[in-house]
Parts: sequence; C-alpha cells; structure tokens
Amino acid sequence: MLHLTFIVLGLFTLSASALNSHVQPQSEPVKITLASRKVSSKRLLQRRTLSPSNVPLANYFNGTDLQWFGNLTVGTPPQTFTVVFDTGSSTLEVPGIQCGTACENQRTFAPSKSSTFVDGGLTGNVTFGTGVGVDPVIGDNWQLSLRSATDTVSVGGLSVDSVNFYLITNQTPTFASDPFDGIQGMSASAEGFFAGLINQGLPSLFGILLTL
Ligand SMILES: *[C@@H]1O[C@H](CO)[C@@H](O)[C@H](O)[C@H]1NC(C)=O
Ligand SMILES: *[C@@H]1O[C@H](CO)[C@@H](O)[C@H](O)[C@H]1NC(C)=O
Ligand SMILES: *[C@@H]1O[C@H](CO)[C@@H](O)[C@H](O)[C@H]1NC(C)=O
Repeated sequence: MLHLTFIVLGLFTLSASALNSHVQPQSEPVKITLASRKVSSKRLLQRRTLSPSNVPLANYFNGTDLQWFGNLTVGTPPQTFTVVFDTGSSTLEVPGIQCGTACENQRTFAPSKSSTFVDGGLTGNVTFGTGVGVDPVIGDNWQLSLRSATDTVSVGGLSVDSVNFYLITNQTPTFASDPFDGIQGMSASAEGFFAGLINQGLPSLFGILLTL
C-alpha cells in the first residue's frame, strides 16, 4: 500500500505572486540538482512539523505503477471521488452530472447537492499528453471538455474552501476504463486545493512513503 503524505513544514514561504505564475511546458527535460537538508536535531524537525495527513492510494495501469489514485471530496456535504494524483497536470477535474453517458462508469458531481458550489461559467477542452497508457498518444483521443467552478475540497482531512476546479462535461471514450473518476494535478505549479493550503499559511511539500 502506498500512502500520499502531506507533510506541512514551516521551513520556507512562497510569495503569492509565485503561486499565480504558470510554469511553461519545457521542450527539453529540466535537470534539478537535489541536495540533502541539514537539520541540527530530530527534535527541531519534530517541532516544526504538523501531523501528517495520510491518504491511502491504489495503483493502476495494467501491471505498471504509473497511476496512483485515492479519494478526495468536493462540496458541502462532501461528495466523494477517486482521483489519480497526477504529477503531469496542475488542476482538479471531476465528472459533472451533465457528462451523462460519457461518464457513466464514474461517479459524477451534482452541483445542486452542494450548498457551497459556485459555477465559474468558463468552458474549454483539454487534451492529455499521455492519457492512461505508456504508449505515445497521437492526436486528441484523450480529451476532456470542462466547465470551471469553485467549491470546498478535502483531502485526507485537510479542507480548503472556494477551490478552483473543473467539472468534466464530456470526455473521449478512452477515459471510460479508468478505475478513477477524476484527476488531481500535482505539478510544480499545482493550483486549486494545494494552492489553497498554501494560502491558508501551510507551505506544502509532497512526500511518498513506500511500505511493503
Ligand atoms: C493492458 O495491457 C495489454 C498489453 O500491453 C493491452 O493489450 C491492454 O489493452 C491493456 N488494457 C488496458 C485496460 O489498458
Ligand atoms: C475510496 O472510497 C471508496 C468508498 O467511497 C472505497 O471503496 C475505496 O476503497 C476508496 N479508494 C481508495 C483508493 O482508498
Ligand atoms: C470541445 O470539443 C467538442 C467536441 O469534442 C466541441 O464540440 C467543442 O466545440 C469544443 N469546445 C471548445 C471550446 O473548443
């Protein structure tokens, strides 16, 4: 079982302007030099950390470990969705009730059942680069039609109000076999829920704990 752990550390602050800037796609891989951080004592680290919030994850892709998914909730009262925690995108998308038969294998969000839902009114299509497979995707056969909205989102007991997210209003049939309903982007420019945590004063780091 793999757990997604949100470790909240008071070690650095991000400026608000950094949250609003978007990282442009790079044509070449970006090399990141990693270095260990010196902490003078375990006690110091413990004092700086809040309790981690754990979300159990399941994995999918046909024998590979490419896709890890778990639950989050949207709305008041909460509606539960299983989402893939996706390092290659930055926003949250969950199927909306208006998706109809295109989303019949997935749970759909009913805006009328959430007292905190606000329609954003913006629509558009987004094409995913790799979809669910390891093979290169050619053309636009992994496409979602989206409508913007805001609502309360909770992951692992951490809750953020007025999170920007998208309702899936249509999707290509390529998504129908997914064992998850939606997508929570975790890229370096993660928006919505994760930006909301930071705005609440919780600079967030992602950690992954592997256990046998
Ligand atoms: C699983 O992998 C096999 C072989 O690579 C492929 O034929 C099949 O379509 C895949 N199934 C799904 C659901 O992706
Ligand atoms: C998500 O929640 C459902 C119940 O709503 C549960 O059956 C499922 O195991 C959960 N998935 C994960 C990955 O924890
Ligand atoms: C989104 O795609 C659908 C068909 O897949 C098309 O009818 C619609 O016009 C597209 N919308 C935008 C904003 O491109």
